[in-house]
Amino acid sequence: MRAPRFIDVEAPGAVAPAAEAIAGLQARPARLPPKFFYDALGSRLFDAITELAEYYPPRTEAAIFAAHLEPMRAAVRARLGESITLIDLGAGNSEKAERLFAPLAVARYVAVDISTAYLRHSLQRLQQRWPDLDIVGVGLDFAPALALPAEVTSRPALLFYPGSSIGNFAPEAALRLLHQMHAACAGGALLIGVDVVKPVEVLEPAYDDALGVTACFNLNMLRHVNHLIGADFDVRDWRHVAFFDRAASRIEMHLEARRALAVRWPGGERRFEAGERIHTEDSYKWRREDFEALLRQAGFRGIRVWHDAQAWFAVMLAEV
Ligand code: AVI
Repeated sequence: MRAPRFIDVEAPGAVAPAAEAIAGLQARPARLPPKFFYDALGSRLFDAITELAEYYPPRTEAAIFAAHLEPMRAAVRARLGESITLIDLGAGNSEKAERLFAPLAVARYVAVDISTAYLRHSLQRLQQRWPDLDIVGVGLDFAPALALPAEVTSRPALLFYPGSSIGNFAPEAALRLLHQMHAACAGGALLIGVDVVKPVEVLEPAYDDALGVTACFNLNMLRHVNHLIGADFDVRDWRHVAFFDRAASRIEMHLEARRALAVRWPGGERRFEAGERIHTEDSYKWRREDFEALLRQAGFRGIRVWHDAQAWFAVMLAEV
C-alpha cells in the first residue's frame, strides 16, 4: 500500500491568525473571517448543518452529480484523458471527491485544506480504501492566494471546488481566485459547485435553522477566538443573526451583542454597544449567467452547466 505525502505551504502575505482576529475585532464595524468557524467543534457543527433539512446545498449538489455523472465523466475524460489528477480545494473529509475516484479513473489525488493535521488523519484512512492511489495532502489557506506547490501544478489537472464555497468570496475576490485556479489547472479544467439566487423563504432558513445548529456554528467562533487570542467572550452575551441582502445578493451572518459589554484579551479590549454586531460571513448567491460570465472573465472557456430540477444549485465544468 502507498502512503500519502504531505506538504505544508506558507501562503505569501498570510497574516498570523491571532493578529488577524485582533485586527478584525478592532475594526469598525468588527469583522471576523469565516475560517475561524472551523476549529474541531466548528467542523463538526458544519457537518451537522449539512444534515439539516433547511440547508439544501449538499443534497442538491449531490443529486446533480448523481443525475449527470455520465456526461460529466465524458466531458472530463475528453479534456484530461484516462488518468486524471484531481485537485480538491477545501477537501475536508474528501467525501465528495471520493465519489468521483472510480467514475473519473483518478490516478492522483491532491487534497488541499487549511488544516494539515485534519488532512493527515483523513488521508491516511482514505489511502486504506484506495491503496494504489497517489495521494498528496497540501496544508494551505488559499483564501489570500492559491499558492500551490509547483510539483502539483506541473501537469494538467481537474480542479474540484464543490459546495459553493466560492460563495464565501466577494465577487472581486472570487474573480481573483478563479484567475488563480485557471493558472493552477495547467491546461485542464475546473469543476465547481455554485449556489444560485432563489426565494428568500428558502435562503434565510438555510442560514437560520429551526434547531439552532447554524446559530451554534456562528457562536462557536467566539470560543475559537477566545482560544486563539486569550479573549473573554461569553457566548451567552451574543446572538446569531442571518439575513439575505437582496441588493448585494448575499446571505450575511453576524453576531449581535445582547447588552453593552467589553471583550478583553491580553494587551487589548473592544467595547460593544447593545445591538452592535460582528460580521462573520457572507455567502453570495449567483445568477447562473453572471457566474458563467465571471468564469469567462477569469479565462475559462467551453463552460458546461448542470443543475437540479428547481435550478437551486449549479455544477459547472469550465475548460482552460
Ligand atoms: C462553506 N460554505 C459554503 C457555507 C455556506 O453556505 O456559505 C458555510 C455556511 N455558513 C452557514 N451555513 C453554512
